Amino acid sequence: MPAAGRGTRLGADLPKQYLMLAGRSMLEWSVQPFLIDAACRGLVVALAPDDEHWSQVRSRLQRVPIEAVGGAERADSVRSALQRLQASGVGADEWVLVHDAARCLVTPAQIRQLIAACQHDPVGGLLAQPLADTLKVQAPAERADADPRVSATLERSGKWLAQTPQMFRLQALHDALAAVAASGFAGITDEASAMERLGLKPRLVEGSAQNFKVTYPADFALAEAILGSRA
Ligand code: CTP
Ligand code: MG
Repeated sequence: MPAAGRGTRLGADLPKQYLMLAGRSMLEWSVQPFLIDAACRGLVVALAPDDEHWSQVRSRLQRVPIEAVGGAERADSVRSALQRLQASGVGADEWVLVHDAARCLVTPAQIRQLIAACQHDPVGGLLAQPLADTLKVQAPAERADADPRVSATLERSGKWLAQTPQMFRLQALHDALAAVAASGFAGITDEASAMERLGLKPRLVEGSAQNFKVTYPADFALAEAILGSRA
């Protein structure tokens, strides 16, 4: 679980994964469904080198995760976590699920659905949501202060919004990320995109719109309302 970000777009006074919502920190909500899943044999959390909040969260978890040192980019943090798994003896062909600490609404049922769909797949796959809205391309701005304008509408059919967890084999994912590290992970915003660079075609497993990533303040308010209503 990459949890080494700063949450700059949310703009709170601490990293968003440590904000409290519906009585728990976001990170606790995110790890809990994995900790109770019998198929998940362990958890690695990638943390910022200067993290001051993790030890409190850790003390409230019923299973203690392995810790890894996160990096400058999300992909650096994931790579670091994969290397911790390799160092702790996890086999090259074992399945790994990568999940954003900022997706605190994932459910045990969605995790099981992803595992069931991918466990016999040669590549692996990801939870994703078919695009519901019409997709617009913004025109290049004529002046710096101009309001955004549409230059085109993209074909909606066949487009999906990628979520996490994403499920790949440990060595394959590690190698795919290593192959794009030299470019500074240009264009690599999830695990699947690194696998795609190798010509592989990850499986799309339809998830839920509720498994959104908490990015902006409005997402935070919505996540809090949903978690409160589930309780
Ligand atoms: N992440 C990470 N290491 C980084 C950057 C991000 O482990 N160097 C993690 C975040 O903690 C988060 C997930 O990757 O759980 C998804 O990233 P994002 O939503 O972009 O979180 P932040 O990078 O924290 O937010 P922002 O981009 O707004 O600063
Ligand atoms: Mg980020």
